[in-house]
Amino acid sequence: MADLEGLKASKDYHVDTPFANQDGFFLKGINHLDWGMKKHMANIFNPKSGNTVMFAFDHGYFMGSTAGLERLDLLLPQLAPYVDCFMGTRGAIRTCVAPETAKSIALRVTSGSSMLQDDLSHEVVAVDIEDAIRMNADCMAVQTFIGADGQLSSIDNLSKVINAGMRYSIPTLGVCAVGKDMERTDRFFKLATRIIAEMGVQIVKTYDCENFEEVAAACPVPIVVAGGKKLAEQDALKLAYNVMSKGAHGVDMGRNIFQSEHPIAMAQAVCKIVHEGYTDKEAWDFFQEESHK
Ligand code: R5P
Repeated sequence: MADLEGLKASKDYHVDTPFANQDGFFLKGINHLDWGMKKHMANIFNPKSGNTVMFAFDHGYFMGSTAGLERLDLLLPQLAPYVDCFMGTRGAIRTCVAPETAKSIALRVTSGSSMLQDDLSHEVVAVDIEDAIRMNADCMAVQTFIGADGQLSSIDNLSKVINAGMRYSIPTLGVCAVGKDMERTDRFFKLATRIIAEMGVQIVKTYDCENFEEVAAACPVPIVVAGGKKLAEQDALKLAYNVMSKGAHGVDMGRNIFQSEHPIAMAQAVCKIVHEGYTDKEAWDFFQEESHK
């Protein structure tokens, strides 16, 4: 391990220079992977825009029934036409997503904590690779707690899932966790997203932060951004626009869609930003029109 004394802060991110080594496939960092990996990535990310709108409804894995997600069986069919990817637990997907639904699937494969605990950073891999294959999962999501008490076990989980995914060409989505006592600075996200990427994931999920363009530039695989706590719709659209214009390849949004008074209009407005290049202002106008129909 390198000596940390006299360590220089990184500074040159070349944020305006496109990712090198991308000829042949539309997503950064995926060019050298095989057909199966690319096929799953092209199921998740729209090859035309290069981006994705993931709808995250995996909150039940540690929160139980959550406001807005009480009836997944009713909500998911309504949202399906307006998102690219469903991100959930195998229990929710098997019971509430019809197999005919032509959506890509991001399968949460780690768990082990609940809201009743103070420290959520200790998890296990709870889904066998065979079950991810049976479900035709397009990627496997692993919560990764950099800097937390459970860092070692979560990196162990992440490695096991990546290794299994490499055997069967299923991408891994490394989710950068932010526990309640963890920093949300660009310094933290640069460190955590890069560690997760260097472990070998094909997609990183993280949060918006100051200097997000540097976080995105330094991450050699596509980044998707979580919505985080519920914001006013206009602010959530601003967040989506902000990260998209700074190098994200999409969002993985939950509460800012399912806790909106108008989840369908919200999902559509987010899509306009992610796939059609709408500004947040244009998307807000669109949302207002749609929500009054
Ligand atoms: C975290 O990993 C959660 O389980 C959610 O998938 C994630 O936080 C995205 O949802 P939200 O936009 O509500 O933060």
